[in-house]
Amino acid sequence: MRKNIVAGNWKMNKNLQEGIALAKELNEALVADKPHCDVIICTPFIHLASVTPLVDGNIIGVGAENCADKVSGAYTGEVSAEMVASTGAKYVILGHSERRAYYHETVDILTEKVKLALANGLKPIFCIGEVLEEREAGKQNEVVAAQLASVFSLSAEDFSKVILAYEPVWAIGTGKTATPEQAEEIHAYIRSLVADKYGKEVAENTSILYGGSCKPSNAKELFAKPDVDGGLIGGASLKVADFKGIIDAFK
Ligand code: 13P
Repeated sequence: MRKNIVAGNWKMNKNLQEGIALAKELNEALVADKPHCDVIICTPFIHLASVTPLVDGNIIGVGAENCADKVSGAYTGEVSAEMVASTGAKYVILGHSERRAYYHETVDILTEKVKLALANGLKPIFCIGEVLEEREAGKQNEVVAAQLASVFSLSAEDFSKVILAYEPVWAIGTGKTATPEQAEEIHAYIRSLVADKYGKEVAENTSILYGGSCKPSNAKELFAKPDVDGGLIGGASLKVADFKGIIDAFK
């Protein structure tokens, strides 16, 4: 059966010392009180090599927030999937709406990134989700279906390593969470698309996380929905008490 997962996305927050302190504090809290789900923290590139050896790998997986769409070479400022993997990181967030919107990452670019992540042993946490105007026009299903093209070009074996994250853009950092019913409706639709493409067994084994203003006070009712397998957490992953509060929703 699919895994329940709570993953943090630190985004562009915390300098190196602050990030190390946060990872240590989280590790101590979760070693003392073991989570009932998988826990992942996705950090800025510069934290990865310091954070991976600090945390108990049986309890916390570490991931990057992005990787390059090229293997290596003259791409000043880019960080390859191989470099990410060499830090001990096991995951990478790809297709986040902030990358799509601010850095113009297209379906084709993301297809390359997903392939390179998998080729280097990284599990993609692949994000999809509509903006407010699309939701208001009732186009959310169409939007997520089109965004899934980047992972639907994979073999079934490769796709089974992908974690999906539905993040409605109108809920990210806005304090406006999707209702559990809204989340369940689209998560079930996403799972039906996976079933159409790869079959029921692969679909049943795919973890689909919800992201967007998820916090300790709403995590339990969101995660109680049958097709919501956990969360991808932004702001609330920056404080151990909040992040652990969300993790504890699975207790
Ligand atoms: P917030 O939890 O801050 O709304 O961010 C969600 C997100 O974008 C996680 O990737």
